[in-house]
Amino acid sequence: MLMRRRVFSTVLGVAAAAASLSTVAAAQPSLRVASPDGKNVVTVSVRQGTLSYSLDREGKPLLLPSRLGFEFRGAPPLGDSVRIVDSARTKADETWTQPWGEVARVRDQHNELRVTAEETTSRHRRFVVVFRAFDDGVGFRYELPEQPGLADFEIMDERTEFTFAQNARAWWIPSNKPRLDRSEFLYAASPLSTLDSIQTPVTLELGDGHTAVVIHEADLVDYPRMFLAGHGMENNSLRAALAPMADGVKARGRTPFQTPWRTIQIASSVTALAPSLLGLKLNPPSKVANTSWIKPMKYVGIWWGMHMNIWTWSSGPKHGATTENTKRYIDFAAKNGFGGVLVEGWNVGWDGDWVANRNAFSFTRPYPDYDLPGVAAYAKQKGVKLIVHNETSGGLANYERQLDSAYTLYRSLGVDAIKTGYVTDTMGGNHSHYSQVAVRHHRKVIETAAKYGIMVDVHEPIHDTGERRTWPNMMSREGARGQEYNAWSSDGGNPPEHETILFFTRLLSGPMDFTPGIFDIQETRGAGRPKRLDEPRVRTTLAKQLALYVVLYSPVQMAADLIENYEGQPAFKFIKDVAVDWDTTRVIEGKIGDYVVVARRERNAQRWYLGAITDEEGRTFDVPLSFLTPGRKYVAEIYADGPGANWATNPLPVAISSKPVDSTSRLRMVLAPGGGQAVRIRPAQESSSTK
Ligand code: NOJ
Ligand code: CA
Repeated sequence: MLMRRRVFSTVLGVAAAAASLSTVAAAQPSLRVASPDGKNVVTVSVRQGTLSYSLDREGKPLLLPSRLGFEFRGAPPLGDSVRIVDSARTKADETWTQPWGEVARVRDQHNELRVTAEETTSRHRRFVVVFRAFDDGVGFRYELPEQPGLADFEIMDERTEFTFAQNARAWWIPSNKPRLDRSEFLYAASPLSTLDSIQTPVTLELGDGHTAVVIHEADLVDYPRMFLAGHGMENNSLRAALAPMADGVKARGRTPFQTPWRTIQIASSVTALAPSLLGLKLNPPSKVANTSWIKPMKYVGIWWGMHMNIWTWSSGPKHGATTENTKRYIDFAAKNGFGGVLVEGWNVGWDGDWVANRNAFSFTRPYPDYDLPGVAAYAKQKGVKLIVHNETSGGLANYERQLDSAYTLYRSLGVDAIKTGYVTDTMGGNHSHYSQVAVRHHRKVIETAAKYGIMVDVHEPIHDTGERRTWPNMMSREGARGQEYNAWSSDGGNPPEHETILFFTRLLSGPMDFTPGIFDIQETRGAGRPKRLDEPRVRTTLAKQLALYVVLYSPVQMAADLIENYEGQPAFKFIKDVAVDWDTTRVIEGKIGDYVVVARRERNAQRWYLGAITDEEGRTFDVPLSFLTPGRKYVAEIYADGPGANWATNPLPVAISSKPVDSTSRLRMVLAPGGGQAVRIRPAQESSSTK
């Protein structure tokens, strides 16, 4: 049911506009908007001619007055020498059901304040800042209305600041090194005051010991991606920094224009940060009328074999994407209840330096040993989706030229899922990976795919800004160091703490195609012997690989290992059983960089799943199962680290057991160093096997 209430009122207006300039400057009152629970209060004011906002949390300053405005090419900056000439208020309260997600229902309850500022200098340019105060944070965006003094523009900088009242501990990845414009870095924790140039979402733990804040953005449509820059000096202020196009311009546009929302998520503890729904609330409702074809799924694929160097993407004797190999994967998927099979390296363009030869990729021409129509028909007959891979290497024009022909072909073959990729530092003609040009490209791909009825999973993406609300065919993306780093990374792979940080940082922006489920932890089949710890290798126990399906949310979850590594493995049952679409998500325990325990209820079912992961320290949790329906009897199917398990020395033992539980039970979960635990809790009357 949709509920909506709107109330309009103009606070300032004609009266202020009529007063003389000096009186207005002196007398301008500040405007406030509070969240429905009254805890988050935004104050907007003009200070020495500059429009600024501040944010209080439970009566204490969280953000001090922070500047707003723009710098242009060929025109003076906007934001200095202004006065507030108008304001309006609205409220909203609506609840909707997501077609798929980390939770089924989302309630958007907020109070909105629109503030119009006008220059007091001769140009009289105007801009609007719209603030929305929610119980879980604040969003604000700029609007540049159509007006005589501002038509076409080139934005060189956005002056938005986030000036914290106190220092904080920030969990961040860099935006300026070492591989320019990529998001595949290990997270670091440092004082806010020392930050240089970082990506969002950034998660900040405040000095009060409990409040957590996440800065990010929402509804990025036609604008560069936002980074955050420290001021190069010891202070607690971050400023928006925009990814440039090749000529240094950040955004080209024409009024009327609006920027993405700048979001400040606020929670009373880090465990209350997830599920993070602020971004969804700040995106327009779905533009896809019929979403019945959009389906979360688990998949396997011709993928890890290339990262292990067993197969190649390119043609030749080790080519992975052969008809025969693909059919073998389709058979496995059908037998084990997987929805899809990803095939990489099927198309012409991989030979030679495929990153440099970005324009050589064809998205319709298969290699001669890959019978695309044949495998597509075979997959269809077996009830499995073929997930077609489109690596672009950042050749935006090359891909855009082929979008219609490629998607027409895929649809004619019954294919409705693709994985795209952008392995490159710069996009198209030397634009930043995250420039406005790249953002436009991604939108074009999502919208074209929606038109053709195709689901999309993006690697090396623009970060998630909640697009999935408007375009629910935008399923998942990478945008952080995923499993692949455990195959070849020169630093040995993702350290045991990595996923405990991802949960509280990257995953707050949206789903991640991390690709869990490596069972051959020591990568013996790839290396021909168990890999040593000074080599790139998975740095978890096997049980932790299972737990990642619950902890790291994605509507498309891969069982990433070579399929032969699942043969004869009782623990594989958990991957077959685990859900990919959730009704409810509860974070039970968590500390960034140390551990996470999450419970999720499967959508349209009474089954719950628990995922617990730890860093290099072994830990024990005593989890009350009070989330279960009182009075109902359940069975917990437990996949725990086995005796002596340890990520470094003994990663494989998994102890599988089951026991009756109900809502009054407590579950003692013992995790090995670098370990984890996955639990499926099903109603007692259901049989243990769903597949
Ligand atoms: C990087 C992606 O993250 C990975 O999944 C893919 O296999 C390679 N690029 C090749 O496209
Ligand atoms: Ca990648």
